[in-house]
Amino acid sequence: MAVLVTGGAGYIGSHTVYELLERGREAAVADNLQTGHREAVHPKAAFRRVDIRDRAALDAIFQELAIDSVIHFAANSQVGESMREPLKYYDNNLGGTMTLARVMLDHGVGRIVFSSTAATYGEPERIPILETDRTLPTNPYGETKLAMEKMLEWVANAGGPKFVSLRYFNAAGAHAGGGIGEDHRPETHLIPLVLRAAAGQSDYIDVFGDDYDTRDGTCVRDYIHVSDLARAHILALEYLEKGGESDVFNLGNGQGFSVMEIIGAAGKVAGRDIPLRIRPRRAGDPAQLVASNRKAGDVLGFTPLHSDPAGIIASAWKWHSAHPHGFAQA
Ligand code: UFG
Repeated sequence: MAVLVTGGAGYIGSHTVYELLERGREAAVADNLQTGHREAVHPKAAFRRVDIRDRAALDAIFQELAIDSVIHFAANSQVGESMREPLKYYDNNLGGTMTLARVMLDHGVGRIVFSSTAATYGEPERIPILETDRTLPTNPYGETKLAMEKMLEWVANAGGPKFVSLRYFNAAGAHAGGGIGEDHRPETHLIPLVLRAAAGQSDYIDVFGDDYDTRDGTCVRDYIHVSDLARAHILALEYLEKGGESDVFNLGNGQGFSVMEIIGAAGKVAGRDIPLRIRPRRAGDPAQLVASNRKAGDVLGFTPLHSDPAGIIASAWKWHSAHPHGFAQA
């Protein structure tokens, strides 16, 4: 029996496939390679280039590969793009999950661990953010992820697969083996862009706003190592396998770091000063996003192994130094 990882060629999905295989589990990957990389797929995972909106193709995978659980990453995930092209997000994120849920029902597959986001909260009411806090997304990306959570909840209530929704905060870092890491095209995330500036591949890192109500005026985020995220997915799957009820969990370190603190830590890791320039605020950025990770600790037994941003950045720097242009193929 295999675990199907949709989006297993993407950043967090590929790390989760490595984690599954390192634990001796069987993994299959369904990815349309729209944003994922074939090279990121572990050679021991069965790979099918499939769009999850293609019901017949998914059906064939479930049939052929004896899928008994799903870890679902396949989605579009850029906040800015979602503001410009909302229907792309409804179609792929919500539509894709609907088709996946249908095929799971057809095959009697009873477990899904699902990739959600801190963007479901929108502007937080308080820090740290609890799972029970208000969810009021401020962009179609967060809105579709919240709708996916709710859809899975109604499906579970009707006797369908049990689910765990994992609301990630800021994923960062790379696999310790050095073979996979972060490669978004276009890249919009802070840490890879800081490392490009550190490597001299760009002239500056742009700091989006220094007039927020935070300790140094720049935005505060909760950075979590991608391998910790990957491990949390396996814990969530095991929780469902042991009969755990459907639920939602934050995944973060529970500690916030400002943009300036990240740039400072990256400068130490790279051993050089990183040139920066202050730019206007980026639309839609909350001042602070920091998780309460207590529930994931209490219920799933999840403790992040990498809580220090310097260590997280060092693993990203190792990947970046070995692959300055990312994977060989887009
Ligand atoms: N930032 C910069 N300069 C850059 C890029 C980012 O100053 O060149 C700042 C952003 O303004 C933000 C922080 O660095 O304050 C982190 O930005 P990222 O783009 O790396 O990440 P976000 O916090 O915007 O995004 C994360 C997840 C999304 C999720 C979002 C919720 O990656 O999936 O949180 O708001 F939707």
